[in-house]
Amino acid sequence: MRTVQIFDTTLRDGEQSPGVNLSTEEKVEIALQLERLGVNVIEAGFAASSPGDQSAVREVARVVTDASVASLSRAVPQDIDAAWEALKEAKQPAIHIFLATSPIHREYKLRKTKEQVLEQAAEAVRYAKRFFPVVEFSPEDAGRTEIDFLCEVADVVIRAGADVLNIPDTVGYLTPDEYANIFVQLRERVPGIDRVKLSAHCHDDLGLAVANSLAAIRAGVDQVEGAINGIGERAGNAALEEVVMALYTRQSYYQVATTIRPAEIARTSRLVSKLTGMPVPANKAIVGANAFAHESGIHQDGMLKHQETYEIIRPETVGFSQTKLVLGKHSGRHAFRERLETLGYTLSEERINALFARFKELADRKKSLTDEDLIALAEEKHGEV
Ligand code: KIV
Ligand code: ZN
Repeated sequence: MRTVQIFDTTLRDGEQSPGVNLSTEEKVEIALQLERLGVNVIEAGFAASSPGDQSAVREVARVVTDASVASLSRAVPQDIDAAWEALKEAKQPAIHIFLATSPIHREYKLRKTKEQVLEQAAEAVRYAKRFFPVVEFSPEDAGRTEIDFLCEVADVVIRAGADVLNIPDTVGYLTPDEYANIFVQLRERVPGIDRVKLSAHCHDDLGLAVANSLAAIRAGVDQVEGAINGIGERAGNAALEEVVMALYTRQSYYQVATTIRPAEIARTSRLVSKLTGMPVPANKAIVGANAFAHESGIHQDGMLKHQETYEIIRPETVGFSQTKLVLGKHSGRHAFRERLETLGYTLSEERINALFARFKELADRKKSLTDEDLIALAEEKHGEV
């Protein structure tokens, strides 16, 4: 089974979420947890963007030992110098250079011809190779770049010495088939393509970032990029915990392993949410508060008979303590009796029936009932029920 590298950009693309600003100490704390989680590359920031981010990248590189630490960089010497200044003491330094290649970016943002873009990309990679053992190149907005031109870009950066070619779907525009097909085309049409690692980087503007990342993995990429809790510019990046758990849960389908320790996922998600101030939606896959909660009586009954009736992942696998059976108006007698027994009340069938009727009345008025509500119910005198 092949192993796909996990490139975490929570501290760079994730920090580009509107309103998020992480201090150096916060970046270091998250980076150490990402290392425990088992990611292969930590993109710690964009060293040239501010003195604060440069020192954050440096500090992350100082404490991280197992993962490679990368800085983002524009395709210009002063950015590459700033990245090297931050990373020269790192155990495994890497640089991630980007330059836009799509027609809209070339015409309106860069005001450059295709030839100028090719020259700048090659020049930047050659310059970075003088310092960095690992140079990753991203043709920004690759998803909307003409495939012929994308192949030319790939060709020149590979000749210039790039080690990783990342294909960002910068604006989350592509469908899974289209995104996978880019990798197929690159493999067929770029002679030196086997000399680089291919990497996927997807944004979630159409809610397809995880699906596109998985399609790229099926198309054979060596690395996948994303952020914890799916945070990032606009609608965010591919949620790494979702990508990883899809690979883990459907291993026989994907035939791919990662170095991630799933039991660290919940802790990592909570830390990122706390330090970025971005709450995790309750219905978010894998890490949402409801991801392992069941409310309907039919589901609860099934779960009490066999956990796999309504769960494809055990909560403990990703670091949560246990499945939650939430008692509300859809809940059934089975879950109600179980919870009372857990709370220390073993009651006759007749008493359970009476309390259950009362519970349903209360549940119509409250969204969900707490253990305290159930205790109050069980403690009521017989006559009151
Ligand atoms: O989405 C994107 O294009 C990026 C680049 C900087 C690689 O994050
Ligand atoms: Zn991005």
